[in-house]
Amino acid sequence: MRIDVLTLFPGVMEPFFASSIIARARAAGVVSICCTNLRDFTTDRHRSVDDRPFGGGPGMVMMCGPLFDAIERLEKDDPTPAVRILLTPQGERFNQSIARELASEKRLILICGHYEGFDERIRVGLKPREISIGDYVLSGGEVAAMAVVDTVVRLLPGALGDETSAEHESFSGSVLEYPQYTRPREFRGMPVPEVLLSGDHAKIAEWRAEQATNRTAERRPDLLAPAESKEDDGRR
Ligand code: ADE
Repeated sequence: MRIDVLTLFPGVMEPFFASSIIARARAAGVVSICCTNLRDFTTDRHRSVDDRPFGGGPGMVMMCGPLFDAIERLEKDDPTPAVRILLTPQGERFNQSIARELASEKRLILICGHYEGFDERIRVGLKPREISIGDYVLSGGEVAAMAVVDTVVRLLPGALGDETSAEHESFSGSVLEYPQYTRPREFRGMPVPEVLLSGDHAKIAEWRAEQATNRTAERRPDLLAPAESKEDDGRR
């Protein structure tokens, strides 16, 4: 997969993409990630990417020109068809099911905004899929783009050392993950549950399934009765 990120702050994102599982996936050739600075596509001497809104009002609005030019350049340099993604609090709420959809694509172009919003013609002209990572307002799309890239990349075949580990996690099935323990067997008076030390794999699996269900019922009952939930976690 190829991922392009359009941002005013490539320096914020590159160290993240050069760390941990994403770095390993890149080194293994599972994904290539390229950050492009939108300011490189400005045409005036102030290198403007934003301007005041027509009709007045507070804040600044992201201009069409640099964004259209950047996308056109990226798509010309590599004609692999891309899903364009605009990170915005107005988008559909990101979840594991959307991550799986995106992980099946050949190429993503993520667009990070700043300021009060985007010129509406960006939506009309570029027809991006709009994604929000939650009902709160970040000062820019970078943190959201990093969340999306991280979630998608770890789903790509070969990205995780242990192929099975992504499947076992919370949200991959329909429940949260069961509690995990590692050494030591007892820490500050807190022992590891006896069953996990028993070597009885059937019993361990049963205990884990029960723990996962109880934990989900307690913390996220909406996941167990998705039809009644307003949230779409995409796991029906
Ligand atoms: N940009 C600003 N806030 C955002 C959010 N919650 N999700 C995605 N992009 C954003």
